[in-house]
Amino acid sequence: MHCLDEPVTSPLPLVIDTDPGVDDTLAVLLALASPEVDLRLVTTVHGNVELERTTENTLRVLHLAGRADVPVAVGAAGSLVHPQPERAGHVHGAAGLGGVALPPSPASVDRRPAVVALAELLMSSPVPVTVAAIGPLTNIALLLHVFPEAASRIGRLVVMGGSATRGGNVTAAAEFNVWADPEAAQVVLGSTLPTVMVGLDVTLPTVLGEAGIARFAAAGPIGAQAAAILQQYLAHARAAYGTRGVVVHDALALTEAIAPGTLTTVRRDVLVDTGPGPGRGQTLVDRRTVSTSPTAVEVAEGVDSAAAVEFLVARLSTLDARTRQHPGPRDCGPRNG
Ligand code: BDR
Ligand code: CA
Repeated sequence: MHCLDEPVTSPLPLVIDTDPGVDDTLAVLLALASPEVDLRLVTTVHGNVELERTTENTLRVLHLAGRADVPVAVGAAGSLVHPQPERAGHVHGAAGLGGVALPPSPASVDRRPAVVALAELLMSSPVPVTVAAIGPLTNIALLLHVFPEAASRIGRLVVMGGSATRGGNVTAAAEFNVWADPEAAQVVLGSTLPTVMVGLDVTLPTVLGEAGIARFAAAGPIGAQAAAILQQYLAHARAAYGTRGVVVHDALALTEAIAPGTLTTVRRDVLVDTGPGPGRGQTLVDRRTVSTSPTAVEVAEGVDSAAAVEFLVARLSTLDARTRQHPGPRDCGPRNG
């Protein structure tokens, strides 16, 4: 059996590791709106708000899109070594969804811890799995340490985090996800995993404006809720930076996960500053040379921001119709894997 608008080839299995979060929400919705990928698991992590909230928000966002069937496994409540100094409720709203209270999901969380669920999925998948890590990298670092064989089966790891040329967004030096757990980021970015780093260099110029938000808001109740979740974030951007749009960092990382090659990348050596000083959490990207090291990271250095925003808006605008046509994978025949 084959769904009407699904691609003929099997969709790529995808895991999202996330801390919703307003832009995380758009990223998850983008994945659900994309026939190229099959969202097989969402793992949650501390970050923008506390773990309990990021997990509850994940369940609710999946339910909003009619996909409460996607398993959600609970990950790390805190950083590997030092507690994260502060959350980002002032940007994402105290509960993480921009002040919007989505209806609770009938689904419960998976009984397995996130790293176990992720390891089992990686070991059992007949094809490589793409992992999009759009929160602090604690879960992925734990996977590398606890289940190295499973980690080595990740087909592609797309990380939203870091910055090569733009400085930081939470301190002068550090981007939020790396700053939230620099030791974990060093484990991941210093590993041999096939990693793409989608940092502030490409996310900051990629601004979703009010006209784009209005387009998916008009598509139906899911688009309208996504737009509602963005309103506080928009107000914050207007007040803090004077912009009439929002930077949707995590959705850009998901775009690269869904459509590899969206971003121009260069292999670079990357080190994370894990010291206690003002540089803590900085990603030190060596841009002097193209690296041939096995631990090099594909650092995103070029983006067509207008095309990326159009991709996001167009996909989010299909979500309501898609959900009406295919309320869940069970209505669409057996799932892969
Ligand atoms: C990252 O930090 C978080 O606040 C966002 O969700 C995104 O993952 C951007 O620096
Ligand atoms: Ca995030």
